[in-house]
Amino acid sequence: MKKINQTLCQLVLITMLSLFTIKAKAACLIVNSQNRKVSSQNDLIYKVLISSSTNCPLNVIDLKKRILLLGLKTDVYMVANRGRNNSKLGSFSFFETIEGPNSQTQQAYIGHFTSLHGQTLELSQNPADQGLMIEAIAWDLTKRVYNFYELIGQGTTAQWFYRGDSSDIIYDNQMLHLQPQGMPPQFGQRLRCSGCHSSGGPIMKELQAPHNDWWTIKRNLSLNQFKLSPEVQSQLVNLKSAEELSAKVNIGIETLEQSPTIQNTLRKNLKLLLKPLFCESEINLESASMPLDVSNKIKVPTTSMLNPLLGKIDFTLTKQNYLNLLNQYHIRFPESNDRDADHPWLTPVKSRRELIAIKNLIQQGVINQYFAVSVLSIDFKTPLFSEKRCSLLKLIPSKPAGLFETWKDEFINELQRSKTETSLELMSKLSVSNEPNSLTFINIQSYIQSLQKNSNQINTADNLFRNLLVKRKEVFTSDISKNPKGQILEPGFRVIFPVFFSLLNN
Ligand code: HEC
Repeated sequence: MKKINQTLCQLVLITMLSLFTIKAKAACLIVNSQNRKVSSQNDLIYKVLISSSTNCPLNVIDLKKRILLLGLKTDVYMVANRGRNNSKLGSFSFFETIEGPNSQTQQAYIGHFTSLHGQTLELSQNPADQGLMIEAIAWDLTKRVYNFYELIGQGTTAQWFYRGDSSDIIYDNQMLHLQPQGMPPQFGQRLRCSGCHSSGGPIMKELQAPHNDWWTIKRNLSLNQFKLSPEVQSQLVNLKSAEELSAKVNIGIETLEQSPTIQNTLRKNLKLLLKPLFCESEINLESASMPLDVSNKIKVPTTSMLNPLLGKIDFTLTKQNYLNLLNQYHIRFPESNDRDADHPWLTPVKSRRELIAIKNLIQQGVINQYFAVSVLSIDFKTPLFSEKRCSLLKLIPSKPAGLFETWKDEFINELQRSKTETSLELMSKLSVSNEPNSLTFINIQSYIQSLQKNSNQINTADNLFRNLLVKRKEVFTSDISKNPKGQILEPGFRVIFPVFFSLLNN
């Protein structure tokens, strides 16, 4: 009897011990923002995380080991958070794409950061910092939207969170630009990612070359001033040029745009569906193509002067004229005291995602080209953040996308009832016939020609430059940056634009 008791005790002890080891080396528990275990998701990140029943990757090194073990591939991209020529604080972000052997839609992305310890550049993967260690976005093959995850340090360990998906983000941002007159902008509270991933998918501010602050094959980021930890060194082995990330983010944007799930959500409300035509919910950055050091001419990005769907403008100024403007407005890059960002004329522009959405609206017959041109021609000299154009969105009927001719008539009636100068201008453009009135084209053409003709006139360049300074400022103050959970330029974390001192005095 005593013997049996002893064996029993041993058994209980062994079971308790093995339970303990399982707990210490356990499968991933992925929870939502309410700390409840999330149901199974059909995306790469979820699959990677639950692929082992005994070992949850709780930092980026372990996560990448697991990714490789499963036969998946990662490509690494790098951006200097405080400006290409201002990296002394050692603040960089690594973004990585994860792909299956031969699939483009099974795509996931992760992001993580570096910090400086003494002179050594390290990956910020210390759970004791209690901060963000990894963020991830992964395409869900069943829901046909992106899932958003993050790994947060908890002191001695870390916790994986599933924060929501693209549909949640669309709901969080549905009231953007549509709040009642005089009210501050309203945002949902579902997930913080909505603050910047405004349309629910991957983003890259510098989607267009030359990718001012990114590591590119033509223009590496200089890390000579740092010692590199072995983990940072191993990141650099797979470093790829930013153009490749741009191509993948573009595919990601298209994939989400074509998703039946997203289309169904947006088509329930014309105001949401047509928002990209009237307003901006996100931005991209563009700049002159050559770095200031090696340029002798500065070509102003067309998209900063005109919506590219309305035409192209070739406006080039001499380097001397540009330097004079930098001097005249006392432009300085913060922290480094350089004269400018690496590439001249770094400017916010209407986002590629919204331009794609407009083209798709035309292609799918939701609107026709004349309608698009008529709307975009309202205040066309302000291609980004035009209050006039954006205010007209509120007059679009709140109803599902039906027959174009039917809701267009309702819209025209609303424009007439509203009786503002802008609404009457659009009404007259839309009701004349089903083609843009020739005056619209003449006005746009004469604007293009007058800019091109006056490329060498300092007054014209001065006006455009002032406008550039205003637009840089407006990104911070516009409604798109009012979500308390995050704003696209990430002030405090990123340093992007040079600043100026004398605009108001001139
Ligand atoms: C404050 C703004 C902001 C918030 C909030 C934010 N992100 Fe991002 N994220 C960015 C920017 C900006 C980029 C692209 C880098 C660039 O253009 O500088 C990015 C890139 C990423 C990438 C790489 C793929 C891509 O889109 O290029 C992942 C993954 C990512 N974010 C995940 C998340 C997740 C998950 C959340 C929420 C838990 C989140 N982010 C919240 C600004 C933000």
